[in-house]
Amino acid sequence: MQVAPPPSRLLDHVLSSHQFGRSLLEAVFARARSLGGVRDRRLSGRIMATLFYEPSTRTRLSFESAMLRLGGAVIGTEAAREFSSVIKGETLEDTIRMVSAYADVIVLRHDQAGAAARAAAVSDVPVINAGDGPGEHPTQALLDLFTIENELGRIEGVDVVFCGDLRYGRTARSLVLLLSQFPGVRMSFVAPDVVQIGADIRALLDERGVPYRLNDSLHAVVPEADVIYQTRIQKERFGDPAEFARARGDTRIGAELMAMLPARSIVMHPLPRVDEIDPGVDDDPRAAYFRQARNGVVVRMALLEMLLA
Ligand code: CP
Repeated sequence: MQVAPPPSRLLDHVLSSHQFGRSLLEAVFARARSLGGVRDRRLSGRIMATLFYEPSTRTRLSFESAMLRLGGAVIGTEAAREFSSVIKGETLEDTIRMVSAYADVIVLRHDQAGAAARAAAVSDVPVINAGDGPGEHPTQALLDLFTIENELGRIEGVDVVFCGDLRYGRTARSLVLLLSQFPGVRMSFVAPDVVQIGADIRALLDERGVPYRLNDSLHAVVPEADVIYQTRIQKERFGDPAEFARARGDTRIGAELMAMLPARSIVMHPLPRVDEIDPGVDDDPRAAYFRQARNGVVVRMALLEMLLA
């Protein structure tokens, strides 16, 4: 299959969904579709470093797969707090200064919001935010939006129900920022108060005139939903077990809720899931979460190519 030449460089770093306006989103998605996972050598000789201070399956391995499919090479460390010189007390800034001497692009996952921006400030090479604590996960949001367009054939006018951990859930925060640019989009946030979507996101939606509802029950909103975006309650972000227990709420998706969901709607989840979607839902054609995760490879190929073009 012939792949069109790469676009000129449009990005210096990928730190936040705020960087992606409509025209850049269209460029990323068009490029992802045109690459289509085809392997070639266009990033031959380039090196990507993955630096992960928090665990990951999808983000790290799909970035690595994307780079290898483009002919590039991969170096890196998972569990960076234990397996790199961070354990000796090295700062994030010093680590990034060194890694940016060894690689052409750095993919960073960290447990603190703002870490990717700190890294970008001292890096000689592009930094990609692969999740910064409860802050943002912009590349996940890109693949999520790409999935919505692929599955429904549109983004404008969609009704999206977010549920689960919306307070610490960086994927939901980043996706809301992207969706808020599209006319006619409506959103519902279904979560117990303790993990409801942040005031900063609500203020942005108010400012942009995007309609949204807060709810604590899925039953009221599922019959009108085009997308249910389920998320995991992130036990690791709660210091207090009692607060974690309050956060669990009642937003599990199973046969009863699927019976209320319209036939052409979809269920998404950034994964990993624990028990918030019954495995019995997996065989339903509306369960889009594994297709969604697979889209991570082509979207990340497009991003790497844009950053390294
Ligand atoms: N969706 C996501 O970020 O998954 P991982 O934690 O496995 O990378």
